[in-house]
Amino acid sequence: MEGVIDSIFREILTSIGGIDQCVTEFFRVTDYQIIPDKVFLRECPELLNQSKTKYGVPVFVQLLGGHPELMAESALRAANLGACGIDVNFGCPAKTVNRNDGGATLLKFPDRMTKILKSIRHVVPRNIPVTAKIRLGFDTPEACIRNAEAVAAAGITTLTVHCRTKTDMYKPPAFWEWIPKIKERTQLNIIANGDIWSSDDLKRCYEITGCDEFMIGRGAIANPFIFQQIRNPDFSVTWENIGPLLPIFFDSSAKLKSDFFAQARTKQWLSMISKKNEAGRELFEKIKAVQNPSEFRMSLCQAPPVRPADRRCLAPI
Ligand SMILES: Cc1cc2nc3c(=O)[nH]c(=O)nc-3n(C[C@H](O)[C@H](O)[C@H](O)COP(=O)(O)O)c2cc1C
Repeated sequence: MEGVIDSIFREILTSIGGIDQCVTEFFRVTDYQIIPDKVFLRECPELLNQSKTKYGVPVFVQLLGGHPELMAESALRAANLGACGIDVNFGCPAKTVNRNDGGATLLKFPDRMTKILKSIRHVVPRNIPVTAKIRLGFDTPEACIRNAEAVAAAGITTLTVHCRTKTDMYKPPAFWEWIPKIKERTQLNIIANGDIWSSDDLKRCYEITGCDEFMIGRGAIANPFIFQQIRNPDFSVTWENIGPLLPIFFDSSAKLKSDFFAQARTKQWLSMISKKNEAGRELFEKIKAVQNPSEFRMSLCQAPPVRPADRRCLAPI
């Protein structure tokens, strides 16, 4: 997730376990240049580790853009650097991205989606999977059928569907019920995405979609132990699980860039955690206004008072 789940976050999440696969933040391929090697390696250092996190979880490289040849050349470059898979983003709703012919805007032009995917599939060696991610449509959910068919027409076999339109942005609910309709019309292997915040959500998503693969974004940021909970319903998440991850995240981010970067990223994460966890909320309220990174770092280690009632995640909001 762009601006959120970077290589440090991937390392922390995959250290917990329960994740089968990660995808990088998107690399935006503009009309001017192929993504340079150094950019791929900076944002996806896992490429130097057989495209896996330190904990052995494969990381796909995600590309976004509207120019078939430049997308293909960038994909080939990522493959040559060792990417174990290429994912193509047709879901990003950001204005700058859409204005520059990338992300969800391409959902208006399914033929172009096919062309982009075909040219990527054509150059990337067959043993490296190429996958795609869509929203249902740009402004109408019915478009998901045509968009999924456009993906299948390029010889792609796996598609992640974020079950909203671009116009829906991130407004709940996610409309999982479109996935069975896509499955009726294509042979695609579908990964269901959108609004899975708990193991109960995942169960409902499974019942509605029949999918056996799921992508979880914000739910994993708010509760990094969600994958454990899904795999083991008796696993209960306490602040003692989550709290110690914060200083680790801060220190790794500071090492990678700077203390101020680390502070901003850790505040961003804690703010997401605070939406689902009472102890996290208390800590966030206490330290959100702290300006000095060293003071902020120290406060991360002062565990908030954890009462028995805090020892659970809040219900999804
Ligand atoms: C801040 C932010 C950044 C995101 N960046 C990406 C991205 O780089 N690539 C991508 O495929 N999806 C991206 N997404 C979308 C999520 O991957 C996901 O499809 C969406 O949030 C719905 O799933 P969720 O309810 O599990 O979060 C982003 C979402 C957010 C909120």
